[in-house]
Amino acid sequence: METPVLRPGRTDDLERITAIYAHWVRESAWTLDLEPVTLDERRDWFERHGPTGRHRLIVLERAGEVAGWAASSTFRPRRGFDATVETSVYLDPACTGRGMGTILYRALFEALRGEDVHRALAAITLPNAASVALHERLGFSVVGRFGECGRKHGRFWDVLWMERAIAAAGGPADGP
Ligand SMILES: CC(C)(COP(=O)(O)OP(=O)(O)OC[C@H]1O[C@@H](n2cnc3c(N)ncnc32)[C@H](O)[C@@H]1OP(=O)(O)O)[C@@H](O)C(=O)NCCC(=O)NCCS
Repeated sequence: METPVLRPGRTDDLERITAIYAHWVRESAWTLDLEPVTLDERRDWFERHGPTGRHRLIVLERAGEVAGWAASSTFRPRRGFDATVETSVYLDPACTGRGMGTILYRALFEALRGEDVHRALAAITLPNAASVALHERLGFSVVGRFGECGRKHGRFWDVLWMERAIAAAGGPADGP
């Protein structure tokens, strides 16, 4: 695989990001959005992410095209949850299973080192072996499994929650 480029997301990436996400909204229950996010909604979302701080968007570019993205976003709006982020990662379906998710997610957590983030949480609709393996590889552990809390495509889905610590600035490394 040629060396991928990892960088913060930009406004001109939003169409690709929206298209990648729309594929998984349509084809899977791995996101429990039922309708694709519109470009305008994605633009609003992007405004809440920055080149510094706890809410980041990182893209992986391959052959000049965005092949995937990872983000850290608000977990819950109440201010006492500020130091906790919810993370997510989505690849172009043609790019899965070749290590790109790992590279991308690592870059996200590298970007968060030293930011005011204490915990990262991730919600994974089951079954999703690749996502569970990716999160375990990046140092997440299982918190719990909510039975049938999601409904999509005419059935209910279990959702696994996982968490990992984020090291304080200048502290010891916190994970792989
Ligand atoms: C989940 C996703 C980001 C993982 O990225 P990826 O590039 O496909 O995964 P990688 O090649 O980096 O592999 C990561 C781990 O998953 C495992 N894996 C990859 N594809 C797998 C599959 N189809 N079945 C089982 N395990 C798989 C790898 O062996 C690796 O495990 P290891 O670290 O124990 O060796 C990607 O597959 C994806 O975008 N999936 C659809 C969207 C999605 O599910 N997003 C996450 C929502 S919670």
